[in-house]
Amino acid sequence: MEILRKSTPPVGLFGRRGFLTGAGATLLYAALAPHGTSRVAAARSIGDYPFTLGVASGDPTATGVVLWTRLAPKPFEGGGMPAHPLAVQWQIATDERMNHIVHRGAVLAVPELGHSVHVEVEGLEPSRWYWYRFSHGNEESPIGRTKTGPAVGSVEALKFAFVSCQHYANGLYHAHKHLAEENLDFAVHLGDYIYEGPATSVVGRPHLPDHEITSIEDYRIRYALYKSDPYLQAVHARFPWIMTWDDHETENDYAGFLPENAADPADNQPDFASRRARAYQAYYEHMPLRAEQLPTGPDLQLYRQLQLGALMQVQVLDTRQYRSHRAPANCALAERVNGYCPTALDPTRTIEGSAQQSWLIESLTTSTARWNLLANQVPFAPNDTNADPLIRTFGGEKWDGYPADRQKVLDAIAARGLGNTVVITGDVHANFVRNVPPDHIRLDAEPIATEFIGTSISTGGDRTLATTFGGNANNPHLRFSDNHHGYVRCTVTPELWRSDYRVVPSVVQADDGGVSTLASFVVEQGKAGAEKI
Ligand SMILES: [Fe+2]
Repeated sequence: MEILRKSTPPVGLFGRRGFLTGAGATLLYAALAPHGTSRVAAARSIGDYPFTLGVASGDPTATGVVLWTRLAPKPFEGGGMPAHPLAVQWQIATDERMNHIVHRGAVLAVPELGHSVHVEVEGLEPSRWYWYRFSHGNEESPIGRTKTGPAVGSVEALKFAFVSCQHYANGLYHAHKHLAEENLDFAVHLGDYIYEGPATSVVGRPHLPDHEITSIEDYRIRYALYKSDPYLQAVHARFPWIMTWDDHETENDYAGFLPENAADPADNQPDFASRRARAYQAYYEHMPLRAEQLPTGPDLQLYRQLQLGALMQVQVLDTRQYRSHRAPANCALAERVNGYCPTALDPTRTIEGSAQQSWLIESLTTSTARWNLLANQVPFAPNDTNADPLIRTFGGEKWDGYPADRQKVLDAIAARGLGNTVVITGDVHANFVRNVPPDHIRLDAEPIATEFIGTSISTGGDRTLATTFGGNANNPHLRFSDNHHGYVRCTVTPELWRSDYRVVPSVVQADDGGVSTLASFVVEQGKAGAEKI
């Protein structure tokens, strides 16, 4: 379907033509930056402008990318769209003024998917910047910028950042503001894009709705609230994103079909499977994902592989949907094996599910890329939090809670002996660098992989800051720990991986205080383990 419309620039808070591109973007964001209920009120009265939630792109390949938007003129009041499908036009160009359009088309935005739009553009050139926009009637979306992946076989350097945990009520998105100014090829979100509970706020950003979300309407309003932030819109419009989720997009600490608290009616509306289906649908509706990720009932296949030339193979993981319930946290000392409780060591318990695990091991075993990247949710390397050498207190909710399952992945990595596997992780709202040992017993053995854990964008709010370098008796494989907020910027060449921990001083102060690099680590290709530089 080829439709090209001429339309006039929209008038409205989010709708200035082209405001999401170029140097002028920063100024405009600064003007929009005051956070608080006044901005929510402003967004409520934006009239009929449908592109209030911005635009996004994602999952780049050498020849294509996914473009996303959602029509929602009244984002906090059910979207404000009629209960029938509507055509949305899209264009993609090689220049930021949209003069040289290379592809265009139209798609239907349907009420069953919240009038969200997912366009899988093909026929693009590798490693090239493009600009895109949507239109409906006389209204145009902001212009977004995106980039295709490298050509097959290319080992050109790539620069990206990863983020996680962006609790809207806990803090301001200063980190996103600075992330939008980074010169990156793409970005990765490792989950906790939204939080599902009610929340008051010390920064004037209380949660909408004001209760735990369980209905599809509630999930949509919560996504709309988060996406009303101009800095979050900015980062989505600046480069393509590789998205995965953690627990809070659905329900805190859920495991497969088990909610956090099976006895709590709020967790089961009317049952957890149907709540999970609504949460997964809302996630799909708000993310730049391909049709392969279209949910079917309570299932959505989010784990997938992206090939970024010959430089990097990315395995995007989903450690929530298929996991077994967590093992009981404690047991008698006499029962412990190498510090672990037998229930934790049960080989039938899984964090990935058997299909994802087979896929992951096969992908790692056959990869010919210079680097293998696992885009992961919860900490992967062991982390012993108990000083008693006979007791290893491992987080029951992390990979540590599923050591037998993890060992199969570790064995696959070790068997190849390439030393080029890097795990990036979110979840814990703090920065850590951990060398990955070959098992959960010999934490001081030669590492077989490297894990970079990134802090939260805002979750947790401001706290007393603490930064330490190096390991300790409990965790000799630890290289760095810190609890600033921010993001991790990675520069990857065929020979060297560099991770820069970019931090902001506060997420509560209105003045963002700038961004700085707190610490940088490198991994040499072929030699697992991080070195501070
Ligand atoms: Fe989180």
